[in-house]
Amino acid sequence: MTQVKNICCIGAGYVGGPTCAVIAYKCPDIKVTIVDVNATRIAAWNSERLPIYEPGLDEIVFARRNKNLFFSTEVEEAVNEADLIFVSVNTPTKKTGVGAGYAADLAYVESATRGIADVAKSSKIVVEKSTVPCRTAESMRTILEANSSDDIRFDILSNPEFLAEGTAVNDLLYPDRVLIGALQTPEGLKAQKALVEVYAHWVPIERIITTNLWSSELSKLAANALLAQRISSVNALSAICEATGADIDEVAYACGRDSRIGPKFLKASVGFGGSCFQKDILNLVYLSEQLNLPEVAAYWKQVVDLNEYQKKRFVSRIIKTLFNTITNKRIALLGFAFKKDTGDTRESAAITLCKNFIQENAKVRIYDPKVSPEQIYMDLSEPGIVDNTKEVKKHITITSSAYEAADNTDAIVIATEWDEFKTLDYEKIYDRMNKPAFIFDGRLILDASKLRNIGFRVHTIGRPAI
Ligand code: NAD
Ligand code: UDX
Repeated sequence: MTQVKNICCIGAGYVGGPTCAVIAYKCPDIKVTIVDVNATRIAAWNSERLPIYEPGLDEIVFARRNKNLFFSTEVEEAVNEADLIFVSVNTPTKKTGVGAGYAADLAYVESATRGIADVAKSSKIVVEKSTVPCRTAESMRTILEANSSDDIRFDILSNPEFLAEGTAVNDLLYPDRVLIGALQTPEGLKAQKALVEVYAHWVPIERIITTNLWSSELSKLAANALLAQRISSVNALSAICEATGADIDEVAYACGRDSRIGPKFLKASVGFGGSCFQKDILNLVYLSEQLNLPEVAAYWKQVVDLNEYQKKRFVSRIIKTLFNTITNKRIALLGFAFKKDTGDTRESAAITLCKNFIQENAKVRIYDPKVSPEQIYMDLSEPGIVDNTKEVKKHITITSSAYEAADNTDAIVIATEWDEFKTLDYEKIYDRMNKPAFIFDGRLILDASKLRNIGFRVHTIGRPAI
């Protein structure tokens, strides 16, 4: 059996960084080098302030960095030294060309693959870590084989990543499962076994699932589609709750107690965000269309459409409640990240809310404990609604505390479920707000009756207005 001694990971992002840091932490006998073309990102990985915020990540990285864990821009050197290479580059939704708006842009995967073929001087196991459409491994293999000499062999594995941001370290240390797909050939199975051995350093063997390549690739898209589908289902029910007097938390709890349904991923919200759900479902929609399965495509597309509807519905409720206009009103937006415990804002519902408030000429005061002002300006300055940072700055103020954000505002909107928003001194906040003072809880984290006793008018997703 091939024993893996040296790993290279191409892509030092939210997945490559934590995943390979944990491999280095759990496998001190393996040298792990994480490379990226982004020199600023690599410098941050080599500094005291890591480029991404994840609870527990600093300890893992600092424990192994410069021992058996290295961060580098020397892609060629790291690829050459490695026996196993993870390709963990970004696969965003295509913006232009065939499949624009749906298909995954595989340009980064292809460029990383060509890079491997160009420089490899010995045989390698190449592992798809990025989330890719079904049968991408075949394209990678074709590129590698067409660009390498006869005495070098490449075995391709699919090893999709299931970590969630905010809990990445825990998810990696104690995964529900690790999935490794391989071609069902003697060489493919040998490569699969070599990667199983790496994970077996800390993952119980019964949690390591081995499948064929295509099942593994599709399982990743399927898992994200199923998770997002639960959220869209519960969000669809939240609209019915608001119109009938039912309470979505009670409904979700009652349904989730059925062991066939289970309690997780049934929390209604202002809409799911993050870099994966929307992108991966659209990818699945595109795949279904390509396979001439329009009914299947329409089914999954509805999960994304419902998510857009949920965000729009929340904005409409806010405007309607604030006497049908928010022009020149001051709104505190608490939370900008797409979920708590991360500084990541990709596809965050807060961006949509904020852009809508700006369009209505409201003055928005934003606070998030982990998102930098530069990131917020960048997210809001995307062409389409307001075209530059200068213009955006006229509409928004970024504050360093929730209290400061709420000062002299007409309404507070909770967009991210940060724990600290549950324990704020709402009496103090109420005293400093314009009256009537409104709170719109888009995450169902606040005690509405307590707030009403203070004097707030409270509106919660999935509960009727009182
Ligand atoms: P990311 O954008 O944070 O990181 C990708 C990195 O790859 C970037 O730093 C980029 O500079 C680098 N890169 C691109 N092309 C390169 C090349 N040719 N050579 C060297 N470096 C290159 O992306 P991410 O969030 O880490 O996601 C990576 C993949 O993992 C995606 O396919 C994503 O769908 C999947 N995924 C993400 C998550 C998540 O929670 N973010 C979870 C599971 C799976
Ligand atoms: C997701 C998948 O969970 C993970 O397995 C995959 O590897 C990457 O995509 P992530 O996007 O990091 O992870 O976070 P997740 O916890 O899934 O949350 C995604 C979005 O759904 C967030 O905006 C979150 O707030 C929202 N959400 C989640 C809900 O609105 N309700 C829920 O019950 C759960």
